[in-house]
Amino acid sequence: MTELNVKRQALVNTADQFLLDIYGGLSQPQKSLPCKYFYDEKGSELFDQICQTDEYYHTRTELKILDDILPTVAGMIGPYVDILEFGSGAGIKIRKLINALEHPRSYTPIDISEEILLSSSHALQQEYPELEVHPVVADYLSPIELPASFADETAHRKLVFFPGSTISNFDMPDAIHFLKHIRSLLSPGDALLIGVDLVKPVPRLLAAYNDRQGVTAAFNLNLLHRIKATYDTDLNVDNFWHHALYNAEKHRIEMHLVSRVAQTVTIQGQSFVFKERETIHTENSYKFSIEGFRMMALNAGFDSTECFTDDANLFSVHFLTAT
Ligand code: TRP
Repeated sequence: MTELNVKRQALVNTADQFLLDIYGGLSQPQKSLPCKYFYDEKGSELFDQICQTDEYYHTRTELKILDDILPTVAGMIGPYVDILEFGSGAGIKIRKLINALEHPRSYTPIDISEEILLSSSHALQQEYPELEVHPVVADYLSPIELPASFADETAHRKLVFFPGSTISNFDMPDAIHFLKHIRSLLSPGDALLIGVDLVKPVPRLLAAYNDRQGVTAAFNLNLLHRIKATYDTDLNVDNFWHHALYNAEKHRIEMHLVSRVAQTVTIQGQSFVFKERETIHTENSYKFSIEGFRMMALNAGFDSTECFTDDANLFSVHFLTAT
């Protein structure tokens, strides 16, 4: 088997950091937990299932848009590009991209879950022996040291791929900071291909985060199962339920875990008091207008070269050029 050149960043998803983040989040007036902890093995599996529910239009729609536009994108970016992807999922989208591009040179996926990252990187390396695959195990929210193939300034054109509207899960100043961070990895003329969910009538949005099969609920509650599996705790997961709501003022879906009862939960000796109906805020998913996202990208140093949508205007894919 081809040896992969793997980089590991000082890992932050250690048990201790998880505990510190739980303590920090549950000590706030509005209790919260960081959404990056959704993605243990079970969580990643549930997330793949969410993508297949009838109500969750994002994945299906983005794949369809990519099928339509990738030949155009490939023409605009040219041959021999170095690709960087933040968060490497099941790998369907990246295969579409690689297949469309003319002789892509290297692929650097960055992901927090080592097992999934390495197995998908191995599979990809087997399928594309000519492509240099350089996985980086890291929390992409912290500063990352990139492999030479991507850091090299004189190298070929670079393309950052950030599908799935993961940018939606950043809070407002953080989303701009992250775009600026991406921009700092690029030179003028390099590109960012990014999937962004669009504002739309609220019932459609609510349905997408409250699927009838209850997969999103299981995904949200899995965070509590993960705490239970990791620590000494009297946490009873059945005492919480999944709630997704639309915050119209902030243009975002919010996911919460709601306490069914007044209760005290102790985790590794530290107690947290919940009132009945008090919530743990677990994730936001911001919805953008095309113009709104363009403004944000401009602010971060990108020109909007093209924006592609589906016929029903559910989802958008922006092709942005570093200025
Ligand atoms: N970024 C996507 C979104 O906000 C995918 C996603 C992340 C998601 N976490 C989720 C989808 C939780 C459903 C539930 O929609």
